[in-house]
Amino acid sequence: MAATDALTLRRPDDWHLHLRDAEILQAVLAHSAHPFARAIVMPNLKPPVTTVAAARAYRARILAALAPGVDFTPLMTAYLCDDTPADELRRGFEEGVFAAAKLYPAGATTHSEFGVTSTARVARALETMQSLGMPLLVHGESTRPEVDVFDREAVFIDDTLQPLLADFPALKVVMEHITTLQAAAFVSADASGRLGATITPQHLMFNRNALFTGGIRPHFYCLPVLKAERHRLALRRVATSGDPRFFLGTDSAPHLRALKEAACGCAGMFNAPSALQCYATVFEEEGALDRLEAFASVHGARFYGLPLNQGTVTLRRQPAMVPQDVRLPGGSAIHPFLGGSTLPWRLEPAAD
Ligand code: NCD
Ligand code: ZN
Repeated sequence: MAATDALTLRRPDDWHLHLRDAEILQAVLAHSAHPFARAIVMPNLKPPVTTVAAARAYRARILAALAPGVDFTPLMTAYLCDDTPADELRRGFEEGVFAAAKLYPAGATTHSEFGVTSTARVARALETMQSLGMPLLVHGESTRPEVDVFDREAVFIDDTLQPLLADFPALKVVMEHITTLQAAAFVSADASGRLGATITPQHLMFNRNALFTGGIRPHFYCLPVLKAERHRLALRRVATSGDPRFFLGTDSAPHLRALKEAACGCAGMFNAPSALQCYATVFEEEGALDRLEAFASVHGARFYGLPLNQGTVTLRRQPAMVPQDVRLPGGSAIHPFLGGSTLPWRLEPAAD
């Protein structure tokens, strides 16, 4: 059978995205706003987005940073703290500002120091979210210091996620950026229909060897960290299976090159410039190109109860290089995931 040369998809959404603020927001936004129609925007700014007013203001800054005529809807999230008032979440959700709330275990990742120290502390907030049908987005990693960094996700499932799901039997939960076969199996085994998971391009494409190829590779460092090959293969199986509980979430997380190439480099990969092309590459390798649209453009919207997008995007089979750097006005740069490498698919520019 002849290989597909052009792939036109219903416009996809990114269900997990870091856009940052100010000049970084300005530099990175266009890479997501084309091709993605909507994105769940992570609230881990400094200070974090914890109130309806802060989320409204952040949404306005994102919309102001869009080029004229670009159709992109940022879906805002609340950063859950131990003391987040349940009423703030209710008001934000009912007023159409908060699409979801994000649970960062305190200390688990970049800018998570104001996160949740125990589920018990946010029980009232979770009860309210459960009654509203407001999704809880979970960074699923144990922060217990004795837990090995590669085991943190699996331990979190046993220690925290299972009890949380039992305590809140109707709460909608997304396990964000899953990285292990344990997470893939856990979500697959759920029969309640209220559990979903996002999967990033990097966890589908690379195993943890990428961190150490010929030396230490800071641009392959993100959290949760890349895992062993068996985990990557399990993620590829579920992502390409057609199972509606798994959907696209890039976790594109820009950091300045200088802050990644450092003695204590930041976690996060800026994959927005190539994310859709990467997913297409993976789905094609798995013989599942016909399932890409469901993963990218259907499953997430259905989980969130949102309408499907109307427009389309087109990928062409044409080798294209990911840019080496995205420049900021002051001369500093962000090095994208796979910057300088060539991918087999090129994203067509947006039609006017
Ligand atoms: C994210 C960031 O930089 O904000 N980093 C990352 O490695 N993914 C935070 C996160 O999603 O964990
Ligand atoms: Zn993230």
